[in-house]
Amino acid sequence: MNKKPIILGIESSCDETAASIISENKDGVPLILSNIISSQENVHKEFGGVVPELAARSHIEKIDLIVDKAIKVSGKKINDIDAIASTAGPGLIVCLSVGLSFGKTLALALNKPFIAVNHLEGHALSPKLNSNLDYPYLLLLISGGHSQYLSVKGLGKYERLGTTIDDALGEAFDKTAKILGVEFPGGPQIEVLASKGNPDKYELPKPIFHKGGCNLSFAGLKTAILRTSKNLKNNQDVYDLAASFQKTVEDILYKKTRIAFEQFEKSNKKKLSKFVVAGGVAANKKIREMLINLCKEKNVVPIFPSKELCGDNAAMIAMVGLEKFKLKRFSNLDHKAIPRWQLDENASYMKGAGVKL
Ligand code: KG4
Ligand code: ZN
Repeated sequence: MNKKPIILGIESSCDETAASIISENKDGVPLILSNIISSQENVHKEFGGVVPELAARSHIEKIDLIVDKAIKVSGKKINDIDAIASTAGPGLIVCLSVGLSFGKTLALALNKPFIAVNHLEGHALSPKLNSNLDYPYLLLLISGGHSQYLSVKGLGKYERLGTTIDDALGEAFDKTAKILGVEFPGGPQIEVLASKGNPDKYELPKPIFHKGGCNLSFAGLKTAILRTSKNLKNNQDVYDLAASFQKTVEDILYKKTRIAFEQFEKSNKKKLSKFVVAGGVAANKKIREMLINLCKEKNVVPIFPSKELCGDNAAMIAMVGLEKFKLKRFSNLDHKAIPRWQLDENASYMKGAGVKL
């Protein structure tokens, strides 16, 4: 029997230090052997957002321990690893550099291939870790750093149908939370406040609602929240504003997702069958319910990766590593960290970044 590849994934693009070992079963179905995530939420809480210098220091302190734990939990030995995949971008350069250098050094020491991974490609392939998913499919990625609709056509073949033109959706949740006096990261807290409020109390703007295809915009919404917050009189007003914000986001995503469905079908010349929603905001129950209902209406299967795979993790980086390993798409050891790295068809492999095709 052929030995199945064992891949180590490393993620350090923002405020999660993560490592994971994955392999696959005899039928080629991916298997997560370990998935260790260490969040820096407590490090950044008092600053109301991620502080790059502190984030990088924290990655440096923990990366070896996290990788060691991922190997131990997987039950494998370090020499069993067939390739090392690290996130190379997009993200904070000082943070990316930690996981990237660690991965390259390990690959050099073990004399195993190194694979540089685009973090967005990790999110795009993450659902393959716990569902049977054939290409092409539509992905809505809604996290603290990104908000985009991607047509996932195959490994390295992505078409960006729409993206935020300003803030990411998670960022809008976090900024709203900050205005309403809630601790970072505020997204989950806004959901709790919203559950006690009247979503129709405040009318908030829906930027580029009637234009821009399935592009998104949330900056104007945040400004309106700031303005409205000046007139809040009691807790119930806070709940009502949180609920109105969340309802406005639902309305925006409902409309833009319908457009994304149409664009996907036009681009792929086939009916959309599976719609994947990933990123931290995918945990929001109201947004989930609305998207599930939309899928029912359109006869599309909704897929939400498990909570651990929705947020930043290294299993998704290892997943890209596994697919690239099988195609021998290895990277050079001089691969650079790439803070801004889009995932378009033409940009998914960046020229001059040390990527071997
Ligand atoms: O994907 P993620 O864990 O990390 C990255 O940003 O890559 O996403 C984190 C974002 C934060 O902005 C957080 O506030 C938001 O996801 N979030 C939520 C919820 N849970 C997390 N936003 C709304 N409702 C939630 N339940
Ligand atoms: Zn992410």
